[in-house]
Amino acid sequence: MNQFHVCPHSTHATAHCERRAVCAFGLARVRGRFTSAARPDARVIAVERSPAALAWARRNIGEHVGRGGRLVELRGGDITDQRLLADLDGTADLVTANPPYVPDGTQVEPEVARFDPPEAVFGGADGLALIRPLISIAAGLLQVGGRLAIEHDDTHGETVPALLRARRVLTDVVEHPDLTGRPRFVTATRVRMTAASGTATGGTDA
Ligand SMILES: C[S@@+](CC[C@H](N)C(=O)[O-])C[C@H]1O[C@@H](n2cnc3c(N)ncnc32)[C@H](O)[C@@H]1O
Repeated sequence: MNQFHVCPHSTHATAHCERRAVCAFGLARVRGRFTSAARPDARVIAVERSPAALAWARRNIGEHVGRGGRLVELRGGDITDQRLLADLDGTADLVTANPPYVPDGTQVEPEVARFDPPEAVFGGADGLALIRPLISIAAGLLQVGGRLAIEHDDTHGETVPALLRARRVLTDVVEHPDLTGRPRFVTATRVRMTAASGTATGGTDA
């Protein structure tokens, strides 16, 4: 059991893995506290590009560890930099992401417009500028049977699942609503590609 989980600049996701029973999440605070890990033995790696957000993540991890939580490994850099997570290729049980996904020019709530850095919110003209490469990166990181969860804009309830379904190494693509019922995140499972048929299966080797 590899027992680790990668969360590219993500963190709201709370996920569970049935097969390897690896559970983890990132750095998000829930009602002022870190979410507790259902699998405290999981190795958790988080990625963040913004130096300011990185500093907050370090501080939050410090508090989390101070309260007895397991250390989260933090890697500073761009998730699209192939060198950043190269050592983890084909080994992750779970990848979660809360990327910037709001289409450029969208009018957002005043508190977001005033206080959130644009690079944390906006994801290019169609909002998918980072989600597109992220799908390939996640598929490469996951081992067979590993799970993926990506948060997305509520206007992308069909688009993002379609991007995942277009990948033959991903199956079991399911769209999920948020607490207000809006389409908000999608999950999928990494499967093995068979050379003969070109079809994906849920085998046990990568
Ligand atoms: C929607 S916010 C999520 C913030 C926090 N992780 C959470 O879940 O509450 C997106 C985060 O992704 C970071 N980010 C944007 N582009 C990135 C990239 N190419 N590589 C790594 N991090 C990136 C932003 O700095 C921002 O902190």
